[in-house]
This record gives sequence, C-alpha cells and structure tokens, in this order.
Amino acid sequence: MKKTKDQIKKNMQAVKAKGSKIEKMLAKELWKRGYRYHKNCTNIFGKPDIVFKSLKIAVFCDSDFWHGKDWQIKKHEIKSNRNFWYKKIENNIERDRKVTDELTKQGWVVLRFWGNDIKKETVQCINKIEEKIIEKKMVKYSKIKNNLEIEISKENKNKDNDLAFFTHYLQNSGSPIESYYVKKAKNYIDQIGNGFNLLKKMEKIEWDVMFPFPEKPSFTFIDLFAGIGGFRIAFQKLGGKCVFSSEIDKYCKIIYEENFGEVPFGNIKKIKEKDVPGHDILLAGFPCQAFSIAGKKAGFKDVRGTLFFDIARILKKKKPKAFLLENVKGLNHHDKGKTLAAILDVLRNDLNYYVPQPEILNAKDFGVPQNRERIFIVGFRKDLNISTFDYPKPLNKKTSVEKILEKKPVSVKYYLSKRYLDTLKNHKIRHKDKGNGFGYEVISREKNANAIVIGGMGKERNLICDDRLTNFIPVTRIKGEVNREHIRKMTPREWARLQGFPEKFKIKVSDAQAYKQFGNSVAVPVVKEIGKAILNLVLEEK
Ligand SMILES: C[S@@+](CC[C@H](N)C(=O)[O-])C[C@H]1O[C@@H](n2cnc3c(N)ncnc32)[C@H](O)[C@@H]1O
Repeated sequence: MKKTKDQIKKNMQAVKAKGSKIEKMLAKELWKRGYRYHKNCTNIFGKPDIVFKSLKIAVFCDSDFWHGKDWQIKKHEIKSNRNFWYKKIENNIERDRKVTDELTKQGWVVLRFWGNDIKKETVQCINKIEEKIIEKKMVKYSKIKNNLEIEISKENKNKDNDLAFFTHYLQNSGSPIESYYVKKAKNYIDQIGNGFNLLKKMEKIEWDVMFPFPEKPSFTFIDLFAGIGGFRIAFQKLGGKCVFSSEIDKYCKIIYEENFGEVPFGNIKKIKEKDVPGHDILLAGFPCQAFSIAGKKAGFKDVRGTLFFDIARILKKKKPKAFLLENVKGLNHHDKGKTLAAILDVLRNDLNYYVPQPEILNAKDFGVPQNRERIFIVGFRKDLNISTFDYPKPLNKKTSVEKILEKKPVSVKYYLSKRYLDTLKNHKIRHKDKGNGFGYEVISREKNANAIVIGGMGKERNLICDDRLTNFIPVTRIKGEVNREHIRKMTPREWARLQGFPEKFKIKVSDAQAYKQFGNSVAVPVVKEIGKAILNLVLEEK
C-alpha cells in the first residue's frame, strides 16, 4: 500500500533520530578515553558529526539505510515508493562521496562509520579514530632535528651536551627514564625558542632514522665508548632499548646521531654515575689504552685514572644484570697478563659479578670475511645465580672477501699511485730481508681480509686487485700516476661490510674519518651472538 506523505516523514525522522543516537554512542566512548572534540560542526563542509579541529579529523556516523550501506543489494528490498527512496538514497550516496573528496582535498582525514558497526563494534571504531589521532599527532624526528637545530657543533662543545640531553629525552619520552633528561632538555628547548610549539603538539615521535629502537623492547642497555654504534645495532636487533650512550669523538657522534637519532654524551670521565639511568646490560668496547697497573696490588682504587675505572664505577653504582666488554686481543697478555688480571679482580671481587674466563673470538667465525680477533669479557650479577656461560661457537659459515666487494667499479681515488705502490713493495722487501713478514697485502678474493685497523697498515694490508677501472686520470690527493696493476684500497663501505654493518648504515663523514670509525668498531655479528647467549640467561631470570 502506498504511504502517505506524513508516514514517509515520520519514517525518515525515525531513521534520523536513530542516527544521532549512534553518534552519541561514539562520542561518549571517545570522551571516556579522554578525547575532546566538536560535534555537528556546521561551519565545516559536509557538517561532520564529530570533529577534531586542530588535527583536521572529521568523523561521520552514517546510518545504514539512510546513507545506503550495501545499496546495490538492499535497494531490492524496498517494496514501496521505490522512485522516491532510490532518488533520496542515491543522492545521499553521491553527496557523501563529494563531501569526503572535498574534505580530503582540504587536508582533512575523513572517517565514515556505519551505524550498525558503531553499535556492534564500538571499540574497533574508536580504535580506528584513535589510530588517526596518534598518527596526526606524530612528529617525524627529521622535522624536530631541523627545527631544533640538532647538529653537532664544531665550535661549541656545550651544545653537544645540550643535544645529548635533548635527544636522550626524545628517545625516552613517555618512559620513567625521561626524568634523567627532561630538565636539561626543556632548558635547551627554551634557548632555541622556535619549534617549541612543535613539541607541545606532539604526541609521539616517528623515528625516521635508519635504526630506530624496537617498539616493545624486552630489556635496556647502555652503550659506553659507543663509537658508531656497532654494539647498539646488535643489541637493538635483539630487542633492547638503549637508554644512555657516551662517546667523545665528534665525528663518531655525527654518524651515531644520523643513524640512531641520538647524540651520545661526551667524555665518560665527566659523567656522574647518578646521571646514568638504571639498565639491564652495560656494553663497552673500551679503547685499547695501554695502561699499567704493574707493581700495584690491583683493586678498585688501583685502576683509577684508566678508562676501565669509569666502567667499573658505573657498574658499582648501577648494578646492571650483565655486562659485555670488548678489547684488543693484546689485553690478554698486556703486562704479562697483569692488566687483565687486575680487571677481572675488580669485576669479580670488588663488584661481585660472576665473570667466566674471557674469550678471544674471531669475526671470520661469525659470517664476516675478516680475520679480527678480539677479547670479550662478560659478567653477571651474582644474585642472578648464573654459574656457567658458554661463549658462542663458530658458526662455520663460509666467508670470502668477494662477497663484500663493491658491485660497481669504484672511483679512481681508491687506487694507489704507482709511486706509493713502489714504496710499499720496497718496504716489504726490506722487512723480508730482516726476516719480518710484515707489509702490504693484496687479499685474494676467496680469502678473508686481515683485521681492519687504523695504523699498523690496516688499509695497506687489505688491498684489492680490481681491474674494472677505465679512467686512470687521478683525482684529489693521488700523487703522480695511478698504478696499472689494478691495486686499490677497499672503500669505507667495504670496511663497513667487513664489520657486518647493514647496508642501510649511513656514512656521512669523510673517507678518512669513516676508515677510522669502522677500524675502531666491532664486528656486529660477533656481539650479536654473544648478546644472544647473555640474554638467554638474563631474560630467563626475569
Ligand atoms: C674501540 S672504540 C669502540 C667502538 C664501538 N664499539 C663501535 O661500535 O664503534 C673506542 C671508542 O671510545 C671513545 N673514547 C675514548 N675515550 C673516551 C672517553 N674518555 N669518553 C668517551 N668515549 C671515549 C673513542 O672515541 C672510540 O670511539
């Protein structure tokens, strides 16, 4: 039977009333979660039901019938007044589409929910809105970096310290650890002035750096003598969150910030233990500084003045569950073994850690083609009752230099001049005559590289024969003619690969600095394997 105009009006009002009920439901739930919004904004195109003005998010609650949910199916269920309803609903569908398009064009995020979905799946709908709110409140780290002048200063060392506080604050904001950094970070923001509003609006940082920390970390660590972050890459990969880093070298700091979004604090000697947050694992590849403890009884006080002392005092105060220290193989026999003995004595007896006998591990046994032996010292807090530890065994993966060489021909700048190659040859002959096996070496592609180090001919002991060069015109710094035996140095990127750094690791400094940094760094896969072994024990104890 055909409906009268009055009946149609009544029906339509009922549907509309139902619509506003749905909208109230959604609004109430959002309010409960602490969100504040505007309702029925008549001054915004399309009059959205719920609006977050400053974030430009518009929410529409569309009643299923009125706005034509599954219209192509549902339209056949209409039995009377078909012409009227078809026209009405199809106009509505068209109008909704135009509104969404126009608002999107104006930079709004438009969310449309069907009435029945709101009723049945309120939480999911709210979650979708919340997701967009968080997304809109997120600020990219790169934007903060630009606006707040995060750049290591050549002249002003104080600024580096401010930046260390500020970036450590950003990395830890929202966690209790931020209290270590927040005050000085705010001072810095006040000094800078601009960009303050950016931070006020921000809810979360989008870490658009190469190595962001894991979303849900399972442990925390600190990165001392951080260099360019070899330890950090490995331990982040294992699920850790770095809560403090320290490194004195300006160029290392530049690279570190570029890759992790954090400026390390400077000289460890100036860092007070109380300023270091609590953490689960302390990591330190401390410099192979030849210090002498000879003649002393050895003990906590007797290592004072050494960089090891600074590690020890932090361990003493912060008592992390475990630590991992790395040094050159020579530490084993330095001063007839007395130096290592003194270190172990402090760790075991003064600091009360279980410290198994340190081991020398070779990078080539862990998947990278470099013959690099380093000593590793691990320790566990005694109350964890850990009484055995096995250093990782060689992975027995076949490695060769071939795998890490550049795929494309490299610049002529890496090729040795003829004159320099001759000098190296003569040098080698002289040493051979004296019975020394020392000198330059061209690495066979099927073999492993020698240890990459700075000094001790690290570059010259790792030369490559690469005959792909076609343009022999020398560029900067090559004195004289380029050698025609195709002998070149490895590139910094090849050195990065020899240390197992991922391809995405950014190298943003001069070649000279980059060689120094990778030479000083650590073979990432080795520390990752040791890290796994440590975590197997430590995380079990949680
Ligand atoms: C052997 S490297 C460690 C490299 C690091 N493991 C990495 O992955 O790159 C030692 C680092 O300690 C830094 N260093 C030396 N003395 C320092 C000090 N007093 N305070 C902080 N860092 C220092 C050096 O600049 C160097 O980068």
